Amino acid sequence: MTGTVSREFINVGIAGIGTYVPGRVVTSAELEKTLETSDEWIFSRSGIRERRIASPQEATSDMAVVAAEKAIRDAGLSAEEIDLIIVATNTPDMLFPATACIVQDKIGAVKAGAFDLAAGCTGFIYGLAAGSQFISTGMYQNVLVVGADTLSRVLNWEDRNTCVLFGDGAGAVVLRPVPEDCGFLAFRLGSDGAGGPHLTQPAGGSRMPATRETVEKKLHTIHMNGREVFKFAVRVMGEAAEEVLAAAGLTKDDVDFFIPHQANVRIIESAAKKLGLPMDKVLVNVDRYGNTSTASVPLALEEALRDGKIKNQDHVIMVGFGTGLTWGAIAMKWCGYKGALGASL
Ligand code: ACO
Repeated sequence: MTGTVSREFINVGIAGIGTYVPGRVVTSAELEKTLETSDEWIFSRSGIRERRIASPQEATSDMAVVAAEKAIRDAGLSAEEIDLIIVATNTPDMLFPATACIVQDKIGAVKAGAFDLAAGCTGFIYGLAAGSQFISTGMYQNVLVVGADTLSRVLNWEDRNTCVLFGDGAGAVVLRPVPEDCGFLAFRLGSDGAGGPHLTQPAGGSRMPATRETVEKKLHTIHMNGREVFKFAVRVMGEAAEEVLAAAGLTKDDVDFFIPHQANVRIIESAAKKLGLPMDKVLVNVDRYGNTSTASVPLALEEALRDGKIKNQDHVIMVGFGTGLTWGAIAMKWCGYKGALGASL
């Protein structure tokens, strides 16, 4: 898709949203049967009770397509009107081609450019920041941003330190121009590659291609130093939220609703505390989905909208963190939303 860069910046907001989670529910009580763990341990340490697990036939693009089609419909658009597709994921269908191109083909977005974005669980926040630039400059009108992950495929189901924490899912939004006084107000994106070794899937890339040995040693699965990731997350969630508020010219008192990455309820509570927010202004669904990585923020946002927790003109903060290490935050004023779920303009 071609476009011309305008001299004036245009405000950008969310015009449609769609999500998908697999039908299969795996409760923590079920995991007790195969692992030395307990529902009580998992819930008290993470807040997770159950997660959704993709069927053997489902890959990341399949979930992404369902979410994307719902989001496009919700925005009142057709797939042919999409200018650009960004798929944030850690678990692409394959190393290449990009999952975004598979989605482009499956939904029939015949005029769209498409690329994947790798920023760990922060990928959806990075995707919103990246996608909105194309609209802000006047280059494009309709940008589809998807967060989709099938982490169940890269878990070591014998490692109780990791496998109990994650689930599968997808969420998508359509970004469009919005009126001047609303939409995205500020972004904050951060990274610390030195912390990368705390959360890796070591094998399967150019550093350590697949061999019999890498498979036997389960090096194609998630390896995580949970305590270090926990400390990092508690620090950056609060900091990133405060920084993005300041960048948007807002204070903590202005925050109407908070959508944090859903990894661990204890991390969420500490970020809310730092912002001085009561938990009724914070979306928590980690109990039902676990950590769905890039899908977590759009799943939470859709739920907040569906339940009427976000109203027109509300100031909403979204914050994520993940492997990289990366983190990111967005401040927005909710408006310009004409989709089936939200208030009209
Ligand atoms: N069941 C029972 N016991 C367990 C389990 C389990 N599922 N998992 C670990 N344990 C044990 C450990 O082996 C450890 O035993 P030890 O002391 O004998 O070694 C003990 O429980 C305590 O472990 P801690 O690490 O101290 O537990 P903690 O309270 O820190 O909670 C947790 C662990 C939940 C992993 C926490 O550290 C956490 O949430 N970290 C952040 C993880 C995260 O958010 N990752 C996602 C990043 S986003 C992305 O990009 C994918």
